[in-house]
Amino acid sequence: MNVERREKLYEGKAKIVYATSRPDMVVQYFKDDATAFNALKRGTIVGKGVVNNRMSAALFTRLGRAGVPTHYLGTLSDREMLCRRLEIIKIEAIVRNVVAGSLAKRTGLEEGTPIKQPVVELYLKSDPLGDPMLNDDHVRMLGLATPAELLWLRRTALRINTVLRPFLKTRGLLLVDFKLEFGRSGRKLYLGDEISPDTCRLWDVKTREKLDKDRFRRDLGGVEEAYQEVFRRVVGTPA
Ligand code: TMP
Ligand code: ASP
Repeated sequence: MNVERREKLYEGKAKIVYATSRPDMVVQYFKDDATAFNALKRGTIVGKGVVNNRMSAALFTRLGRAGVPTHYLGTLSDREMLCRRLEIIKIEAIVRNVVAGSLAKRTGLEEGTPIKQPVVELYLKSDPLGDPMLNDDHVRMLGLATPAELLWLRRTALRINTVLRPFLKTRGLLLVDFKLEFGRSGRKLYLGDEISPDTCRLWDVKTREKLDKDRFRRDLGGVEEAYQEVFRRVVGTPA
């Protein structure tokens, strides 16, 4: 496809979004910059951008084949993904299969406790407010999504879990939890953003070793090595 990258539209903590010669398409550029705790902690994870771009492409392709509409249109380079331009819904949807992170804190359950029926949580996508949790009434009150959109979003989040969880298990990875973002284009909704070790918790199935951004958040060391290991297992050859 002959699509040219144009001006920068938006720079986030881990990605830059560029306009293109096509009004309905954007380029996502994946950086090595890492932040945690609403950017209180900052650092660099060498090679992360390549891992996140390639892994997201592999998982979006797999989801597309399973009938989940995603914004992924193609891979332009190691760090650049061509995407359908979306009007982003300001909700972060989190799906959880195992207790970890903020759910352990909120409930007092021990990290690693299995969850029988996956839990979906909604958060407001707002850096100044620190992404507070929302329920369906808050979503309605704030006009973030229509009831029909919210129903689709919850159902699709669970469907994505039923596709990714068994696939990642075949690669020796336990999908503990993950974050999704969605957006509108025309009258349709699509999965957007990325699916990577930045946005998922992934544990080695056998040893339960953490192979995701928690290594950075919690100063566990071996951060780059963990990203490369996930890349090797999910995408194949090393980045
Ligand atoms: P949490 O346990 O801190 O709420 O995180 C749940 C999942 O969401 C975890 O896989 C990491 C991911 N996540 C993001 O992608 N972005 C964020 O800003 C946060 C807080 C979590
Ligand atoms: N990326 C988010 C931040 O900077 C949080 C995280 O992934 O832990 O706050």
